[in-house]
Amino acid sequence: MILVTGGAGYIGSHTIVELLNKNFEVLVIDNFSNSELSALNSIEKITGKSISFIEMDLRNYDLLIEKTKEFDIEGIIHFAAYKSVGESVFEPLKYYDNNINSLINILNFLKERSISNFVFSSSCTVYGSPEIIPVTEKSEVKKGESPYGKSKIIGEEIINDFNASHTFSAINLRYFNPIGAHSSGLIGDKPSGKPNNLLPFVTQVAIGKREVLSIFGGDYDTPDGTCLRDYIHVTDLAKAHVSAIEYNRKNHNKVIPINLGTGNGSSVLEIVNTFEKVTKIKINFKINPRRKGDVPAIFGDCSLSKKLLGWEAQLSLEDMLSSAWNFEKNIKN
Ligand code: UFG
Repeated sequence: MILVTGGAGYIGSHTIVELLNKNFEVLVIDNFSNSELSALNSIEKITGKSISFIEMDLRNYDLLIEKTKEFDIEGIIHFAAYKSVGESVFEPLKYYDNNINSLINILNFLKERSISNFVFSSSCTVYGSPEIIPVTEKSEVKKGESPYGKSKIIGEEIINDFNASHTFSAINLRYFNPIGAHSSGLIGDKPSGKPNNLLPFVTQVAIGKREVLSIFGGDYDTPDGTCLRDYIHVTDLAKAHVSAIEYNRKNHNKVIPINLGTGNGSSVLEIVNTFEKVTKIKINFKINPRRKGDVPAIFGDCSLSKKLLGWEAQLSLEDMLSSAWNFEKNIKN
């Protein structure tokens, strides 16, 4: 059985679908701080399989030990974390408390329960604003520009240090920009309140929940002046987690960082234009000043994932955008 922390969240829920499709049993721990129970019901509807589930906060170690006693856990995929870059700047302690303490507890738990297979949800934010793109796993890890970003960098360091003192196999998956939704339209990115990320904002403008998309900066040194990102379909990303769990079964006993992207950079305007093309809906947008902390351009060299995990992204930008739109249309409120 695989323990998926934060399994009701955006990437977690898609990953569980792929785990179940590959006949893994799944135990979810989530406190629903930024997710809903309905996501777990949707997963069961999509797969026709059931999942075990514990509602709890991972900062409570004793409860973690107590509640998981009866489950035979082979591996852990640790998603549970706060993820808003902007919020983390205003509430740094909230981010360090949750993201770091949860990780420490889950690593103590791994040791206590003799689990040797660990997958960590990291981010390309560890590369900061890179001088050379695409970034490889050997590119420099930067200082971190927000408490959120730092919590990922520190998280990776904690895993490395722990691995030097205790034997287990770990993969730090460094995601680029996950977008899109499951083909069923039943699970997807559903931020509460005003979206920070580009795609949910675009789909909310398209459906009429928001009036205008603000494009942050049109004067970057990029082909059309807007930022470049490596957008990756969340279903592709989810499948990489299953491959990582399978790879760790070889007991390599190391910590391996792996980029997960497509290797292509797309600009904000390209996203808007492609969205308009696939949905035939015009997006009302305005080019505004730059957003503080935005990296002008980043995309990944994703050859290591292919070499080690046998995984590479399959789905196109059109797939990403049409599935995101399909999900938005299915959201009830
Ligand atoms: N953008 C807009 N308008 C919006 C929202 C975003 O123009 O309303 C632009 C941003 O300026 C950026 C691009 O769209 O150029 C993507 O922005 P997102 O907020 O969707 O994603 P980021 O690249 O800023 O952040 C993502 C993850 C973070 C992670 C970071 C690492 O959300 O968790 O990548 O670079 F830390």
